[in-house]
Amino acid sequence: MRTLETSDETRADVGPDALTDPGWVVPPVPQDVPEGGMAWLRARVARFSSGEAHTRRRALAVGPLGGQDAADTLRDAARVRTEALLDGMKPGSGTEPGTVDVMARVARVVPAEVLAGFLGLPVTAETAGLVGHVARAYHAHGETVPAADRALARLVTACGGAWDEATAARIGLLVQAYDATAGLIGNAAYRMLAEDAPERQAGPVADSVVTGRLDRTLSVDPPVRGTFRARVDGGDPVRISLVTDDGSLAFGAGPHACPGRAHARALAAGVLDALLVCGCRLVGPDSAYEPYEPSEPSEPSEPSEYGPYEPSEPSANLRVPVRLEVTCA
Ligand code: HEM
Repeated sequence: MRTLETSDETRADVGPDALTDPGWVVPPVPQDVPEGGMAWLRARVARFSSGEAHTRRRALAVGPLGGQDAADTLRDAARVRTEALLDGMKPGSGTEPGTVDVMARVARVVPAEVLAGFLGLPVTAETAGLVGHVARAYHAHGETVPAADRALARLVTACGGAWDEATAARIGLLVQAYDATAGLIGNAAYRMLAEDAPERQAGPVADSVVTGRLDRTLSVDPPVRGTFRARVDGGDPVRISLVTDDGSLAFGAGPHACPGRAHARALAAGVLDALLVCGCRLVGPDSAYEPYEPSEPSEPSEPSEYGPYEPSEPSANLRVPVRLEVTCA
């Protein structure tokens, strides 16, 4: 699968100033594309747009993100949903006892579900899987991925069925959030559970543990490591590193800077809150954090088979644990 992230055409000789320099733009994508597939989504979201179209599409993405109280709402909802998921996996509550893979069962599920609900979409058991399939193909420029196209059509239906820019904006929010927030949760949870060995707790102490771990993770171990830009007058895309000494570029910079920063932190904080409250402990802390080694993608043959996302492609721009096994008290 060809992605901009793995393109051989890229060079690593451009600094972060390009993010704010009008002489550089996000690499353009084809605009004259039919409805119904991933190329349509790329052509309609802010992420791959420049100029007036970017301004208009970014406004459509920022609008649904809500006001000052959004972060509190999302943090509470992520904590409640994570606690319910972890409770449902405990012995005596109807499922197998044992360990829980926080990445597959929580980090790739809770943010997508909570954000979808926040954005007004109906949330079902398939929601996170649908978002995952679209996210997997989001950067696969020039490829046709039928499973992703079908998942996208389902999400458009969930948004009301209109193939317009407002729908693309809402789906774009879910897709942008998907891997990055999972990575923040995985990297911060590992750090918190391995280094703090926390007791089962809630309240102000837990809050400072959680926010401290998120701050530290975003500084030294950010989930999004780079992005691409091209000269406005053409030329090959170049990779721009977002890893800095102080984490100041963890959410990008310039006109495309992440509008979901507070939302990402809140979603991750809610999950970490729940891991503390549920007394989660790492299983085999020395080996639980693995480098990003993708497994083979499994393409669902029926729409109803959308299961948990499986990463399919290593990306130089993402750092997301493959697994994070825990036990809960
Ligand atoms: C830890 C989690 C997250 C990280 C590290 C992150 C990071 C980033 C970065 C670096 C960019 C800029 C890309 C570029 O300049 O090429 C970006 C863009 C974006 N992010 Fe996030 N993000 C996260 C979570 C979220 C969430 C939760 C949302 C939505 C609620 C979101 C929505 C967006 C959107 C819509 C854009 C495109 C903005 C535009 O092109 O104008 N992100 N993100």
